[in-house]
Amino acid sequence: MSKPLEGIKIIDFTHVQAGPACTQLLAWFGADVIKVERPGAGDVTRSQLRDIPGVDALYFTMLNSNKRSLTLDTKTPEGKEILTKLIKESDVLVENFGPGALDRMGFTWEHIKELNPGMIVASVKGFSDGHHYEDLKVYENVAQCAGGAASTTGFDDGPPTVSAAALGDSNTGMHLAIGILTALRARDTTGKGQKVAVSMQDSVLNLCRVKLRDQQRLDRVGYLEEYPQYPHGKFSDVVPRGGNAGGGGQPGWVLKCKGWETDPNAYIYFTIQGHAWAPICRAIGKEEWIDDPAYTTAIARQDKIFDIFGTIEEWLKDKTKFEAVDILRKFDIPCSPVLSMKEIAADPSLRASGTIAEVEHKERGTYLTVGSPIKFSDMKVEIKGSPLLGEHTDEVLEGLGYSSKEIAALHEKRVV
Ligand code: COA
Repeated sequence: MSKPLEGIKIIDFTHVQAGPACTQLLAWFGADVIKVERPGAGDVTRSQLRDIPGVDALYFTMLNSNKRSLTLDTKTPEGKEILTKLIKESDVLVENFGPGALDRMGFTWEHIKELNPGMIVASVKGFSDGHHYEDLKVYENVAQCAGGAASTTGFDDGPPTVSAAALGDSNTGMHLAIGILTALRARDTTGKGQKVAVSMQDSVLNLCRVKLRDQQRLDRVGYLEEYPQYPHGKFSDVVPRGGNAGGGGQPGWVLKCKGWETDPNAYIYFTIQGHAWAPICRAIGKEEWIDDPAYTTAIARQDKIFDIFGTIEEWLKDKTKFEAVDILRKFDIPCSPVLSMKEIAADPSLRASGTIAEVEHKERGTYLTVGSPIKFSDMKVEIKGSPLLGEHTDEVLEGLGYSSKEIAALHEKRVV
């Protein structure tokens, strides 16, 4: 089966997580992604957090599947010549170097455009061009702090907290992938490439837009009724950390189930969706609340919401998180068990859908990775193992017209 992005050639100058997550997605959908790495070392994640000595770490293998690997020292004259040839015949160059690194290498946007007017140059940086922090190097948690996620995550009596979800890294990569596909679509009509830039701060903020909504509401009315601070606590002039509160019309909280004393994940997320109030009362055996004016509306419930959650926890005491959800789903109540990574790894539905994929790697054997979260009716996304460092160097150079003698000389000089 042919893949939609077949024929698109991508120079993948990315490292760590934000850039690699973007190019991996494009590789899954058929693009020829050539990962360019420094000879001898490669992407730093190949050796970070290794679980098997001498073998590419899972950090690398889980972000670089379906790609080819070319080692190339782009600071040597020969390396620059090879990169120039690659640029002339590629569609996209993706990079997430520190600010200015590509320019210092001699490949400014103006120069790349001259070499290949159809080229799309896609970049991830910590902050956007012209931002007063544009010179900063940035990692995940730095971006979560700069994008408003940390100040609004966690509990009121604790410090700003970062999320385990890669809001700064993989999320930025997903934004960049959308930008690249958009620029490719534009090129179909104009024939021209363009620069696509995404900052990690902006991408985090894009996912935190409801918190900017809340800041403006707070500025106007002085309180936020869906936060646990309402109505018994205090608000300052900034959006507070709301713990596990659900937003707006569906207040929710993480509730204890049977076994919580010893199992850190024996919890469910329970949502009180407005129109599900009667089914909730029936499910937990509190039918008398259905028509009680003290409980019938979301506003009426708000000042006793934690007492209500307490009553639901009483009901949950003798039920595991899975038993509880099996009962509640029959009442159409939005809820979920809090799943551990161990449970997720073994989940038969996630395996069947390909969201958890078992992949073969030449040196490590099989490992689990997260497959495509995007499902297509006409394409099965096949996840292949990540490449070894420089595995495809000779193949790529041959494709560029280098003879085997020239390739041997480039190896000898450690250009590749
Ligand atoms: N051949 C020769 N040199 C190479 C090379 C290659 N194949 N690949 C990279 N380099 C060089 C770069 O040109 C740069 O050199 P210079 O600084 O002398 O100009 C050098 O390697 C270091 O690159 P840099 O990206 O700055 O690496 P770093 O380890 O110092 O910083 C980050 C890492 C992630 C903090 C930084 O890349 C960054 O801020 N990136 C943008 C935001 C981002 O993506 N953050 C990470 C999210 S997971």
